Amino acid sequence: MSEVAVPEVRTVDEFAAQPEEYKTAIRKLVRSHAINELYGAQVFDEPAIALAPTPYAKWLTCRVAMEEYGHHVRFKEFGLEIGIPEEELMPGGPKRPLSIFEFPMKSWAEFCVIKLLADLAEILQVEDLLHCSFHPLRNLARATMPEERFHADFGKQFSAELVRTEEGKAAVQAAIDAYFPRLPPFFGRDNSPNNAIFRKWRIKLRKNEEMRADYLRRAQALVEELGLRLPEVTTVH
Ligand SMILES: [Fe+2]
Ligand SMILES: [Fe+2]
Repeated sequence: MSEVAVPEVRTVDEFAAQPEEYKTAIRKLVRSHAINELYGAQVFDEPAIALAPTPYAKWLTCRVAMEEYGHHVRFKEFGLEIGIPEEELMPGGPKRPLSIFEFPMKSWAEFCVIKLLADLAEILQVEDLLHCSFHPLRNLARATMPEERFHADFGKQFSAELVRTEEGKAAVQAAIDAYFPRLPPFFGRDNSPNNAIFRKWRIKLRKNEEMRADYLRRAQALVEELGLRLPEVTTVH
């Protein structure tokens, strides 16, 4: 794709003056965050409060759920500001939530693995937005990032606690085996035309396949630190 001179878009007013392709790409991304943050909070984080085994774990899980709902609220408000209709910013609208949420979470170990591995995937996506040409979106990513890091660290700390017993270790490994295969496709297809548009406008920096490779490397290191392993994933992208 030919290089275009990408402007720094500093305000919502400047955004309104950008080409349609730019605006459509930004709206697509904001819509996806707004929907998926809410859906994830509803199907994983809030139900996990009941699964948490101790008052301390419940307290921290409440904080995670609060922050994930907060991410939805921030992205939704931002979406409204940049002209996305409200119904498109909620699950149940025209866009379906991602398949990573179609996992029937039943146990505390599964929730810990979801935070460990899915929030790491989210961190990669948000990291990529830290340099986005649309500054208000860049700022939103910066505000969200410390919380996503806390969620992934929460997953790591509680998984580390579980793997101290044989039974806990088996439960965490089983959760990794069941959940992990959903994550590599989360980064989108190789040679994606959508991703090419995001990169053309410097909304995203990296190709889907680059992000996926980086994710696999980081996920593997994390899981090995816990004395566990990632399952073989044979998905074709
Ligand atoms: Fe989030
Ligand atoms: Fe998160």
